[in-house]
Amino acid sequence: MILIIGSDEDFHSKYILEKLHEQNTPAKYFDTRKYPVLNWSPEGENDYIILDDEKIYLKDVTGIYWRWYYGVIYGTSDIVYREKTSALESFLCSLEDISWNSLQSVELHRKKGLQSKIMQNNGIRIPKTIVTNDQDALEKFYLENNKNIIYKPVRGGAYTQKLKEEDFLRKDTLINCPCQLQECIDGIDIRVYAFETGEIFSGEILANSIDFRADDKAKINKHPLPENIQKDCLKILKLLGLKYSGIDIRLSNSGEYVFIEANPAPMFTHFENMTGYEITNTLIKNLKKV
Ligand SMILES: Nc1ncnc2c1ncn2[C@@H]1O[C@H](COP(=O)(O)OP(=O)(O)OP(=O)(O)O)[C@@H](O)[C@H]1O
Ligand SMILES: [Mg+2]
Repeated sequence: MILIIGSDEDFHSKYILEKLHEQNTPAKYFDTRKYPVLNWSPEGENDYIILDDEKIYLKDVTGIYWRWYYGVIYGTSDIVYREKTSALESFLCSLEDISWNSLQSVELHRKKGLQSKIMQNNGIRIPKTIVTNDQDALEKFYLENNKNIIYKPVRGGAYTQKLKEEDFLRKDTLINCPCQLQECIDGIDIRVYAFETGEIFSGEILANSIDFRADDKAKINKHPLPENIQKDCLKILKLLGLKYSGIDIRLSNSGEYVFIEANPAPMFTHFENMTGYEITNTLIKNLKKV
């Protein structure tokens, strides 16, 4: 049995569910908005959940595909909400070994400053970065980086943009909310799908915008990585507790590979269609543990 944290509303959840069913592999959505009956113990012998009247013993689950976590719907009171969340999340975190990926790694990705720090402290080349809401620090960082910096959210959810002189002159820019500033790595985007089982699929994305997602005509070509960068990708998985990841890299105009971030629940079907890499099969093989 494979569980999919997601629902029909998410394309990748639906896609993986259909693929598994085509292969006659039992698979089911685990949509946390419908709170399951759950029975969990530290020994883990007879743990089970009941999803839509189907009792699923965890010992029968070979993999969990983590795509879209809805959390717990607020019900009657704060205390009930907190208790339900804690019970569900203790349970989900305890399944780290079979989760592609775990709740822990998803939570770490929401704290991008920390993700960057872990990479930096372990010898991974990342852009020079600050997370700040201090206008003076912004000014200093801007000048130190030859007036060539980008800004983007600390948690994610908005496009990366180049900091322009006029943004910078607006003295109230940061008062309400901190943001993440980085030296701008001029060059091209590389997206890598790396699996802890050793498979690495990498491609270059040729886009006309600073954030490639803003260009829907972006081209994607296969781009084999140098060995040391492949090793760094696998090292990042270990450092961030990821079983696989969609890793974003910028290849600078001077030929340096600079790591931007490692996504725990990446989209991949478009990239797969454009490159022909077997990402779906690799993911499914791992979820099935075959
Ligand atoms: N320092 C940088 N220099 C140049 N381009 C950058 C830099 N940081 C980000 N980008 C561009 O913006 C894109 C998005 O940035 P990033 O991956 O850090 O955040 P995000 O994708 O918005 O986060 P999330 O995936 O959580 O929404 C990158 O893939 C890259 O194209
Ligand atoms: Mg990204």
